[in-house]
Amino acid sequence: MKTISLKQSALATLAAATTLALGFCSPILPAQAQAGPSPERGKQLYESRCVACHSVDANRVGPAHQGVFGRKAGSAPDYAYSTALASSRIVWTRANLLAWLAGPENLIPGQAMNYSLGDAKERDDVVAYLASLPAAKVAR
Ligand code: HEC
Repeated sequence: MKTISLKQSALATLAAATTLALGFCSPILPAQAQAGPSPERGKQLYESRCVACHSVDANRVGPAHQGVFGRKAGSAPDYAYSTALASSRIVWTRANLLAWLAGPENLIPGQAMNYSLGDAKERDDVVAYLASLPAAKVAR
């Protein structure tokens, strides 16, 4: 009997500790889940942070972004990419775009985009916006 109650109280302590630990973490997780990536906010960020070098449908200092989500890196027609990016064999998945925006040079050493976004929420929003762009037009 005594052993069982000891075990039970040990379990109760463990459960309490787990609840406490989760309780400490939970303010961070639900806050992010609730906010969620916002393509609308991403569009605004894109227009303030990216259009200095990029546009959705034309190559500028950087390549055109229409259809970039899910596209092979370095494949916008008629854009002269760095050798590093052109030969990277990366596909622009959400994860790769997030990594690219966090630190292009860490993802693809030798690349030529001298810009990064330090804020994780901003990266999430900008990538949500890129993902919302329609696929590239067939005729360019
Ligand atoms: C200072 C100019 C500059 C700014 C600002 C900039 N970029 Fe770039 N970006 C480039 C250049 C140059 C390249 C091509 C890099 C290469 O060839 O290595 C590039 C490439 C890219 C690529 C790869 C596209 C492909 O076709 O493979 C993505 C994605 C990208 N940029 C996203 C962004 C986003 C999103 C922003 C805004 C948060 C941004 N860039 C801001 C200059 C810039």
